[in-house]
Amino acid sequence: MNSAEKAIGVIGIGYVGLVTGTCLAELGHHVCCMDIDAMKISMLEKGETPIYEPGLPELLEKNRERMTFTTSLEEVFAACEIVFIAVDTPPTFTGDADLSRVFQVLSSLPGVSTGHHVLVMKSTVPVGTGTKISSELARQEAGDIDYVSNPEFLREGTAIDDFMHPDRIVIGSRNPEAGARVAALYEKLDAPVLETNVPTAEMIKYASNAFLATKISFINEIANVCEAVGADVTVVARGMGQDHRIGPYFLDAGIGFGGSCFPKDVAALKQIAGNSGYHFQLLTAVIEVNELQKRRVVNKLQKHLGALTDKTIALLGLAFKPNTDDLREASSIVLASRLMGDGANVKAYDPIALPNAARAVRGVLLCDDVLSAGEGSDAAVLVTEWDEFADLPLEKMKELMNHPLIIDGRNFLDPEKIRAAGFTYEGIGR
Ligand code: UDX
Repeated sequence: MNSAEKAIGVIGIGYVGLVTGTCLAELGHHVCCMDIDAMKISMLEKGETPIYEPGLPELLEKNRERMTFTTSLEEVFAACEIVFIAVDTPPTFTGDADLSRVFQVLSSLPGVSTGHHVLVMKSTVPVGTGTKISSELARQEAGDIDYVSNPEFLREGTAIDDFMHPDRIVIGSRNPEAGARVAALYEKLDAPVLETNVPTAEMIKYASNAFLATKISFINEIANVCEAVGADVTVVARGMGQDHRIGPYFLDAGIGFGGSCFPKDVAALKQIAGNSGYHFQLLTAVIEVNELQKRRVVNKLQKHLGALTDKTIALLGLAFKPNTDDLREASSIVLASRLMGDGANVKAYDPIALPNAARAVRGVLLCDDVLSAGEGSDAAVLVTEWDEFADLPLEKMKELMNHPLIIDGRNFLDPEKIRAAGFTYEGIGR
């Protein structure tokens, strides 16, 4: 390391922190990653990757020499001037973001922060948090610390590509010099940099996620109407997407959005608005449509099978989307509980998420492959559009299932092929 160039600190080594740290190392920076979870740190020190993210193990390996891992905050602040905070901010029962982990870091600063530091917020925090943190830092005389908001727009499963090829880099700061130092970290990336104040940067993150979630709930409602009037939502979405003002993305109808960001961020933005006296009606509907969408599959199953008591339903896919082992807010969890609540037996297979599923979907019989999930089932529901499901062993499945019924919760399968194999096929809005 060049003596003039200090390492970059990253506090909180979850999905966002680890991808950010590793990609910053890939950009040539030395990175010091810190987490309170000693097990995670020891795995990383041994060259193991504690989360599933395509390409991440290889990138970690490639940049090992530029990365250090520690459980000590002191070490990070001693080695780094610019320190990213990437701890998680889960929703509380009121829908507000839980900032306790962020404030835990801040409360430790007076003892560890000497000299000048730039604290960069990667975690999604409510609009206004940066301003509060700046006053808190001043109040506790934590030292000479600038605060910069630099929200992430990483999708699980494609997080590395999203980091390396961002649509934009958003930097919110009170001190443009601190903002420019953070922007300079990304100078090798070919992306526009939007420099603004802290609350605006915080709002860009929430507004972007809430808009995308709105797009999904919108197309899901169009799908539900398509079912009633005999239209095909996949073609409707294509036709809409060809209008460049609408764009083709995030118009895939299905059984609802999940994951660690959309549900939490939409609820938090609604709450932020509510706390400031504004009732964000549109977001209330976006959330409600999403909740109902997860349950619509139950009606479809009842239409074909009658009462679901003692029926066996196979779920194909559990993760909230493909290429991740993440089950947070996954539609599969609500669907499985609804089905079990109606007296059905639920079996499930997922290519990657099974180890996490044991805790998340209690009462579901977890299977090692599609055929064991299908065996003895009265219906199979495709919940996550994993590549492997594009080519289902239809002939064998038909032999093993009690009843040849496939509900395609992601409009991922070819209806003609499924029907030609002797199944009843139903998608979402097609
Ligand atoms: C999202 C944002 O895209 C990212 O910018 C942000 O930083 C974190 O949240 P992620 O949660 O990883 O990323 O997944 P994403 O690919 O956006 O999908 C979210 C959910 O929406 C998934 O459950 C997915 O199945 C669903 N979805 C997405 C749809 O139902 N239809 C679509 O057209 C697109």
